[in-house]
Amino acid sequence: TIVNVILSGGVGSRLWPLSRKARPKQYLPIFEGETLFQKTVNRNRKFCDTVLVVGNSGNYQLSRKDIQESGLEDFLEIIEACPRNTAAAIAFAALSCEKEDILFVTPSDHLIESNEKYASAIQRGIQLAREGNVVTFGLKPSKPETGFGYIESDGENVLAFHEKPSLEKAKEFLSQGNFFWNSGMFCFQAGVFLDELERLEPQVFEASKIAFENATEGKLDYDLSMKIPSISVDYAVMEKTKKIKVVPSEFEWSDMGSFESIYEYFETKGYPKDDCGNMVIGTDVHTEFTGLSNTLLIQTKDAILVLQKEHAQDVKKVYERLEKEK
Ligand code: GDD
Ligand code: MG
Repeated sequence: TIVNVILSGGVGSRLWPLSRKARPKQYLPIFEGETLFQKTVNRNRKFCDTVLVVGNSGNYQLSRKDIQESGLEDFLEIIEACPRNTAAAIAFAALSCEKEDILFVTPSDHLIESNEKYASAIQRGIQLAREGNVVTFGLKPSKPETGFGYIESDGENVLAFHEKPSLEKAKEFLSQGNFFWNSGMFCFQAGVFLDELERLEPQVFEASKIAFENATEGKLDYDLSMKIPSISVDYAVMEKTKKIKVVPSEFEWSDMGSFESIYEYFETKGYPKDDCGNMVIGTDVHTEFTGLSNTLLIQTKDAILVLQKEHAQDVKKVYERLEKEK
């Protein structure tokens, strides 16, 4: 069985006020009327037999609604009591499957063009996973982004995996030519992943197993979950495993992490902006900008954000301040 494991954990603090605790960014229907979560489900269903969502209880109804709208009859869900990062989230998924099942792990908040290039990369990934490898998908880097993992490779062989390098390192990687960005999607047999996790991060493995085995109706226990060390799969497994492979890929991919990427997406879709690059999102109210350029105005029912595109990363600080003031 091939299982699409969809990680649906994050809050999307960099997209406030569009995304909120009650509606994280992957559930916003702003991509030609679809949500990123829906797009993920639809893009991957042709390669997979079932969908398994790992997320929190707040996201459960949103996932259900999206999946049903996509016409899928049913899906499996593991409900976390608290976020313990991606190593644990993937471990729960693997523990719930048969050892030979192929897990195709994907985030729910990326925008990917579902085309031939995507299909051939995923098919190759599944094949390599069947042969017992831990598979990553590499994309050609276009800037020295420090928020991604970098895969140093010789064809499909991985020489090293470097998660979130310093800017200096990222610049060096970019200039070398044999480095890829890690797409954040992975493919492996459930049993292979669990064996690697147990060997490389025994504490994460043990604590995840205990939490999983004591779940009731797919819901994890809070106290047992809090005992799991919080570490991402990139540091826990990808940087260390010798079974790693990469599928050099060419599909179009963007991490919809900030308003800068939202802006660029809308731009390619021909969404209106004025001569100075100012853009309005979320309202039909006539809006004018004077003396401003590359500025976004984002309006929701109860909040307005005015933002210079170059400062897109600062929205997270706004979100954090508002959370503190609550
Ligand atoms: N269920 C669950 N539980 N999901 C989680 C949790 C958790 O505790 N923590 C994170 N996630 C989900 C996020 O919602 C996202 O869909 C995915 O797992 C990856 O987590 P991020 O926090 O977005 O990771 P990142 O963007 O910093 O880095 C990863 O993705 C990059 C590409 O976008 C890494 O894999 C990098 O190497 C990669 O380049
Ligand atoms: Mg991310």
